[in-house]
Amino acid sequence: MRPTLFGPRLRLAPATLEHIKLFAELNCDPDVMRHVTGRSSSLTDVEEEWAGRLGPRTDESRGLGYWAGYSGTRFIGWWGLGVPAGEPDAGELGFRLKQEHWRRGFGFEGARCVVDHGFSTVGVRRIWAGTVASNAASRATLTKLALRCIDEPAPGVLTYAITFEEWRSAMLEERKLSGG
Ligand SMILES: CC(C)(COP(=O)(O)OP(=O)(O)OC[C@H]1O[C@@H](n2cnc3c(N)ncnc32)[C@H](O)[C@@H]1OP(=O)(O)O)[C@@H](O)C(=O)NCCC(=O)NCCS
Repeated sequence: MRPTLFGPRLRLAPATLEHIKLFAELNCDPDVMRHVTGRSSSLTDVEEEWAGRLGPRTDESRGLGYWAGYSGTRFIGWWGLGVPAGEPDAGELGFRLKQEHWRRGFGFEGARCVVDHGFSTVGVRRIWAGTVASNAASRATLTKLALRCIDEPAPGVLTYAITFEEWRSAMLEERKLSGG
């Protein structure tokens, strides 16, 4: 089962079809979608997108999948660790936040919860994320999480990744710096 995850300010609840209207609010904003599809999308598009995400690709039994994030009662956005096709030991990181909550550390905080969960509880060996060169916010968030750009599979399309060993070293280093 996907557990509820907690950060200092965020509660990440396992995403269900009941969250679709909140997810649709995100996709209505062309700024949120600028680097994703380049345009806002309808409720029908969102329902299709999530039918796939909450369908067989989600490895519910191992604890992978998607979460709806709240700060108190406010919906902030979603975070996901999907199961990449043909890569059973990996997780594909993604996130999408409401514009009014950008640049307040929530993107990083939620992604950190999901990455830590993937490595420490699910036991994935590698986490990767796809983004585009023009998405400065996404790239900065991935870099802050210690993912490295490892590939440019098409011009302007970037793959970031971190292995379990790299994550564990980063955790140990962080603990050392905080005196723990
Ligand atoms: C990407 C996204 C989740 C980032 O969320 P956020 O809450 O604004 O990010 P944070 O506040 O946690 O910031 C994380 C880091 O990114 C940096 N950052 C955030 N937005 C930035 C921007 N527009 N340009 C440059 N750096 C940016 C922050 O400064 C911070 O780094 P720092 O602490 O070293 O200064 C958010 O912009 C978003 O939802 N965008 C639309 C959807 C999207 O593009 N998703 C990714 C698809 S690949």
